[in-house]
Amino acid sequence: MAQRRRDCTMTVVATLEPTTNVSLRRLRSVRDADVAGKSVLVRADLNVPLANGVVADDTRIRAALPTLELLRAKGAAAVTVCSHLGRPAGPDPAFLIEPVAERLHALLDFRVHVLENTRFDDGETKNDLAFARRLADGHDLFVQDAFGSVHRAHASTVGVAQLLPTYAGLLVEREVEHLARLLGDDVARPYVLVAGGAKVEDKVGMIAHLGRHADAVLVGGKMAEQLRVAKFGPVDFELPIDVLAVQRLDRDAPTTVFDAADVPYGWAVVDIGPRTRHRFARVLESAGTIFWNGPLGVVEWPACAGGTRAIAEAVAVSDAYSVVGGGDTVAAVARFGLADRVSFMSTGGGAALEFLEGKELPGLAAIPSP
Ligand code: 3PG
Repeated sequence: MAQRRRDCTMTVVATLEPTTNVSLRRLRSVRDADVAGKSVLVRADLNVPLANGVVADDTRIRAALPTLELLRAKGAAAVTVCSHLGRPAGPDPAFLIEPVAERLHALLDFRVHVLENTRFDDGETKNDLAFARRLADGHDLFVQDAFGSVHRAHASTVGVAQLLPTYAGLLVEREVEHLARLLGDDVARPYVLVAGGAKVEDKVGMIAHLGRHADAVLVGGKMAEQLRVAKFGPVDFELPIDVLAVQRLDRDAPTTVFDAADVPYGWAVVDIGPRTRHRFARVLESAGTIFWNGPLGVVEWPACAGGTRAIAEAVAVSDAYSVVGGGDTVAAVARFGLADRVSFMSTGGGAALEFLEGKELPGLAAIPSP
């Protein structure tokens, strides 16, 4: 295992205490539901990126299909799908569900009814009972399949579950099964975490909780710059030893390699450097279990995607049980054509992180046991 850095000076304390109340119980499954002739409401997470009003990445829409196909095969009389899209402050033409519904209909060979963006109603985020009643109205049962949203206590994730008999969808089951494996005591070792992306506060809980079980925590992205000045409780992590930096933050700006400690004042770090890529890849090569969340650089700029690509390739060639989470990371791995080489690609960003933090997620807590 590569040597770890201990040259840290400041302590991030507030959010370091791990929670332990993760619910790893079995959930009542849609596979066991009697849906024949019934009207079913499905909460899916169809919160996908749009570009010029068109779906830019349909991974989450595809992930919703197996449950809908199962309901059809089991003879459901009617299937209604609901989801949020973006974070509109109310009805907003930029967040109409229409392009998403169109893509869903194109991928299915039968018709489902798709409700308008749940966040157009302010009762959604308030978990308002009246709005939950409107969603539940006319349905016989509820299937929770929006894994990416189960960390939200909203009307469409928790409220309706209190009004209708509730079952876990196939995606929720799969996600829970894979992510729970990362929390188990019997993970194959070495257990390696890779954390990148921009916001340290989004990942601090996950690193604190999983990090103490891991054999190595590799950190890149903007987060590494924030952690360079932090001490992370009992978790040791490895920071980049070299980086790519630019003088002006622009997708076409020329990049220069520096030792991590020697980046000139005013330059911006945009990727991990070649020695770090090599070092991280060596650690990943021999891993038994890998969890990766967050790109290692500004992955949407081709000149700054090399570090993330190197990590994706190292994950792909390793024999480890590997899980990748977070929208940007999953999209990057898919773009590199390596999605099939990863054991599981999670559709949950924040939800997966909170699950791995050991938190009980309200949308899962609302699903009964079998
Ligand atoms: C996500 O994209 O992580 C989920 O769809 C949840 O979206 P939210 O953070 O806006 O609740």
